[in-house]
Amino acid sequence: ETLYVGVDLGGTTIKVGLCTAAGDLLRTYEGATEAAGGSDAILSNIEAYVKLLVPPGTPEWDAVAGVGIGVPGFLDIPAGIVNSSPNLPFKDVPLTQIMQEKLGKPVKMNNDANVAALGESWGGAGRGVANCVCYTLGTGVGGGIILNNRLIEGFKGMAGELGHLSIVPDLEAIQCGCGMMGCLETVSSATGIIRMARDAVERGDKTPLALLEEITAKDVLDAAKEGDEVAQRIVSRAAYYLGKSLAAVAIVLNPQRFIIGGGVSKAGEFFFAQIREVFNKLTPGNAKDGVEIVAAELGNNAGVVGAAGLFLRA
Ligand code: BGC
Ligand code: NA
Ligand code: ZN
Repeated sequence: ETLYVGVDLGGTTIKVGLCTAAGDLLRTYEGATEAAGGSDAILSNIEAYVKLLVPPGTPEWDAVAGVGIGVPGFLDIPAGIVNSSPNLPFKDVPLTQIMQEKLGKPVKMNNDANVAALGESWGGAGRGVANCVCYTLGTGVGGGIILNNRLIEGFKGMAGELGHLSIVPDLEAIQCGCGMMGCLETVSSATGIIRMARDAVERGDKTPLALLEEITAKDVLDAAKEGDEVAQRIVSRAAYYLGKSLAAVAIVLNPQRFIIGGGVSKAGEFFFAQIREVFNKLTPGNAKDGVEIVAAELGNNAGVVGAAGLFLRA
């Protein structure tokens, strides 16, 4: 039987999974990214974790026909190069070639959010919907565009880098990890939410968040749900700019469904209601009629399954 490995490269952890040709996940392994060690350390860790998942020399290893890797960052997909990454130390790294040499297997690389979008479209919230756009709200904000059931990569692979839509007005804009000002990612990511919460505490705003030693995005979302007005204002701001970006995407692509995933999307109905409200206010009738904004369905394994799927269904 032919097997495939999927790799989900994240800012703090690397998850690898072994999949059958039918797309069933047999098992996973997870280890630290160790981004502080630079790109060499990250690629060595990917190699190590893949080989811990499937030990070379075993019949299973021999059955592995390819390794798909989802990478957060600005890619040149046809060339197999990671040009840069807002949240990881990559600079013009020929990732596909290096990993192919390390593993001795065919390697396909694509964007982490693109791969998650493929996963959702095949077996999650996008099943049966030919035109959908996915957002992943985590350390960064990722995007993946599926039109007519096909992933859209654009000229080099930058299509769907929705976290870097410049959407915050100049006067309120701060610099993003990509170097630009006012990116969606600066407000609607977990990192953005944490930063806004810290700013509020530093300003002396009255919020229970001030009692925490370290604030996580989940703390802010929970506080908002429990009625803390400072946290609610922060979550509303994240929802507002996200909704505004959906309105822009709706006019460009007219997808049938928006799928919102990642840790921040766990904020629940409170968050989604605000996104829908902004979207409905800013989108002309024809571009919003029948359009749904839903939560992603695949949990933690969307990335590895989607990455392995680069060999199966792309
Ligand atoms: C990167 C994207 C990635 C997203 C989520 C952004 O900062 O530019 O490529 O998909 O984070 O990881
Ligand atoms: Na993308
Ligand atoms: Zn940016």
